[in-house]
Amino acid sequence: MILPIVAYGDPVLKMEAEEIDDSYPKLKSLISDMFETMYEAKGVGLAAPQIGKSIRLFIVDGAPFADAEGDEPDPRAAGIETFKKVFINPIIEEESGSKWLFQEGCLSIPKIRENVSRHEKLCISYYDENWDFHEENFDGYAARIIQHEYDHLEGILFTDHLNPLKKKLLQKKLQNISSGDISTAYRMKFPNKK
Ligand code: NI
Repeated sequence: MILPIVAYGDPVLKMEAEEIDDSYPKLKSLISDMFETMYEAKGVGLAAPQIGKSIRLFIVDGAPFADAEGDEPDPRAAGIETFKKVFINPIIEEESGSKWLFQEGCLSIPKIRENVSRHEKLCISYYDENWDFHEENFDGYAARIIQHEYDHLEGILFTDHLNPLKKKLLQKKLQNISSGDISTAYRMKFPNKK
């Protein structure tokens, strides 16, 4: 089932999400709905708060690399091998390597892309959809997607990483998004729609 994606301005995107345990109801079907929703919107990552659930869960399925322009042709359509993963109750244990800029976007903030600086590498512990525990290292574009999605669980959006001037310049566009004054190819839920 395709779920509407919560737009910028919804309080759920600013909340620190809660851990879950294996008694969480209908988790498997929630995860499969999230993948369906993400693919429909041609995204490479989706966090539970973006579908209105403030729980510590996100999914990714992206190519392990992308060009520096942040121009993302759908890697799956292009036949590029992707990394598909489910992260439950993740903890970023360590970030390392030099910081690098990459133009990020977000399904909750359509049609805005901005450079964000993040560490090149990370070590993350998490449970997968079968409640198996993992501790893994990622770098480059894979790390970038994970850092972006992890931020969603902390109530942080990529626009929060921008400097005040940049943010001010985007203010009007962000207001338009939250009031639904934007058209997207996928279904959204706008917090301030009139
Ligand atoms: Ni996002």
